[in-house]
Amino acid sequence: MTENDFVPSGYSHQIKSGKATWSAPSNIALVKYWGKKRNQIPANPSISFTLDIAATTTSVSYAKLTQSQGPFSFELFFEGNPKKDFEPKIETFFARVEKYLPFLRDYHFIIETSNSFPHSSGIASSASGMSALALCLMDLDRQMNPAMTSRFFKKKASFLSRLGSGSACRSIEGPIVQWGDHDDTEGSSDLFGIGYPYKVHNVFENYQDTILLVDKGQKQVSSTVGHDLMHNHPFATQRFEQAHNNLSELQQVFANGNLDRFIAIVESEALTLHAMMMTSHPYFILMKPNTLEIINKIWAFREANKAHVCFTLDAGANVHVLYPEHEKDITLQFIKNELVAYCENQQYLCDKIGFGAKKM
Ligand code: DP6
Repeated sequence: MTENDFVPSGYSHQIKSGKATWSAPSNIALVKYWGKKRNQIPANPSISFTLDIAATTTSVSYAKLTQSQGPFSFELFFEGNPKKDFEPKIETFFARVEKYLPFLRDYHFIIETSNSFPHSSGIASSASGMSALALCLMDLDRQMNPAMTSRFFKKKASFLSRLGSGSACRSIEGPIVQWGDHDDTEGSSDLFGIGYPYKVHNVFENYQDTILLVDKGQKQVSSTVGHDLMHNHPFATQRFEQAHNNLSELQQVFANGNLDRFIAIVESEALTLHAMMMTSHPYFILMKPNTLEIINKIWAFREANKAHVCFTLDAGANVHVLYPEHEKDITLQFIKNELVAYCENQQYLCDKIGFGAKKM
């Protein structure tokens, strides 16, 4: 498929007004997206677990304007209050997707959004937020073209989300989503995420993710700036190649359920992501001392108990603690006894693998 396949060839129905509400989950990457080309095309393929509890719910009310073709017309409310500082992000998103949703200037939109996780918890909300918004707009697109298949609906929602925030394209479906051209994955694309198409061992069913909130402050360097620093990065070529290889090996791991290899790939990906930040120009560090304390505790616990708990990191200081469901009791006990002390205000969020966005 190409970008042009997402440009509507005309609409069969006219819609005056209405409202759509979608809830979209966050996701946690196992093989990381870090570095991109023009138009939100990833420099390497990535794969993630879709989450279940951490989610954004967005409602979009739309009313057709009598005069169209002016500037985009919208109001934005976050948790019930007007949110001026989110508006430029929406403006940029609308401009990027207008070609694929040519009706955007014909309506006034009221966007109301809220998160299931505490505001400013440091849990990235751009993936869940952008995918929920894209799904609401797709709802209108589908009403104007009711012949659209649900397969195409999801693909285009993922395609549009990507233009808002790359990782958002992995939040439409679940439980495992891959994004980016990869030789060993049929149907993979740089343009949208696809549901992981191969066999997955049942040890990954209901896989757990406890998110430890180590630092809730504003990040010093945004993901967008971090991605940019992969241009002319001394290790970029090797890193992008490594992601392809890790993804190929992960396919075997998903099939055979080898958790030792799973752990080795996932933890190496997390540390490589942060190593890229530490070796870019300018260099930066997003981990905090408590991030490292937690990692060391996880390694010690795993060794002592022959357990299968591991960690991964986003572009921040928080730690995602991943473990199989059959080790839930001992791992949660360990988290409460030994890890929660390193969290800001002892805060953490128990999540698990989920099945994608839902229409409300
Ligand atoms: C470290 O998707 O937030 O979480 O496309 O600029 O919005 P933009 O970046 P974003 O980057 C996410 C990076 C990551 C890794 C990942 O989720 O794959």
